[in-house]
Amino acid sequence: MSSVVDTTQIFKENLFAGKVLLCSGGGSGICRGMTEAMVRHGAKAVIISRSKDKLEKAAAEMRQATGGEIIAVAADVRKPEAVENAVQKTIEAFGRIDFLINGAAGNFLAPFQDLSYNAFRTVIEIDLLGTFNLTKAASEHLKKAKGSIINVSATLYYTGLPYQQHAGSAKAAIDALTKHWAVELGPHGVRVNGISPGPIGSTVGMKKLSGAFRRDENGGHSSIPLGRQGETMDIAQATVFLNSQGASWITGVTLVVDGGCWMTTAPVNYPQMVLNPPKLARL
Ligand code: COA
Repeated sequence: MSSVVDTTQIFKENLFAGKVLLCSGGGSGICRGMTEAMVRHGAKAVIISRSKDKLEKAAAEMRQATGGEIIAVAADVRKPEAVENAVQKTIEAFGRIDFLINGAAGNFLAPFQDLSYNAFRTVIEIDLLGTFNLTKAASEHLKKAKGSIINVSATLYYTGLPYQQHAGSAKAAIDALTKHWAVELGPHGVRVNGISPGPIGSTVGMKKLSGAFRRDENGGHSSIPLGRQGETMDIAQATVFLNSQGASWITGVTLVVDGGCWMTTAPVNYPQMVLNPPKLARL
């Protein structure tokens, strides 16, 4: 069970009433929180990812927590026919798509020499091609609804973080897509933005990646300018804002939501970590 993600104390409760969200990766972590927040503001939601059981469980828990309408559709974002089917199921269930969140991602720490050809390609396919595939499949519906797209990105490539070239280069390309789509879809009334989350406690990403980032010796977060680790709520608030009319003249922007973390967080033991990389356990 994830913690409650409720932004209705900050933003108007019925902000997204009558609207529909399609979210890849919505079965867990940050994207589940983004979905829950949107539903609490009245949106109906379809969440997609590969694991049907995990998705069904997440949808049931969110329905119970919010009283909202959320359905699960299993689809691998790497497969165009699977995402087209997910879009079709969304239209059959709810009749429209106003919001798209491209959140499905895969990542792990891997030194260059341990990153196989297939490992690099796998992450590019999930993150970058997955984002392209789902957006292409949903784009006509988003145009019809004059909707909003949020691409979930990362700050990894801003500093060339070691062990992260696969995810970093995928996210760099996703940020490029955010701009290209903002330009091409803007005249159709569709806004396209990104969110780059910092370290968010208790997520799979945090568990998998935190070993590569410096924290102070006592395990605190004093190297983060705003002095704390992030929460899913931080990303949910940015999501609700970017999807709301409050952001009606904002497009092509990737909003970094990380407490200033990327500017001050250094890799652990650099350059030893690249000259003598440890054997990393697979999580
Ligand atoms: N380090 C190095 N290489 C790894 C790895 C790791 N920790 N995990 C997987 N790989 C490699 C595999 O060995 C394989 O390469 P190979 O064929 O040369 O051996 C390649 O990556 C594909 O792995 P596979 O497990 O077949 O792919 P998958 O599509 O089933 O899984 C992953 C994709 C690897 C990204 C998997 O971790 C995943 O599905 N993650 C989803 C959740 C997630 O990572 N979230 C992160 C949020 S930040």
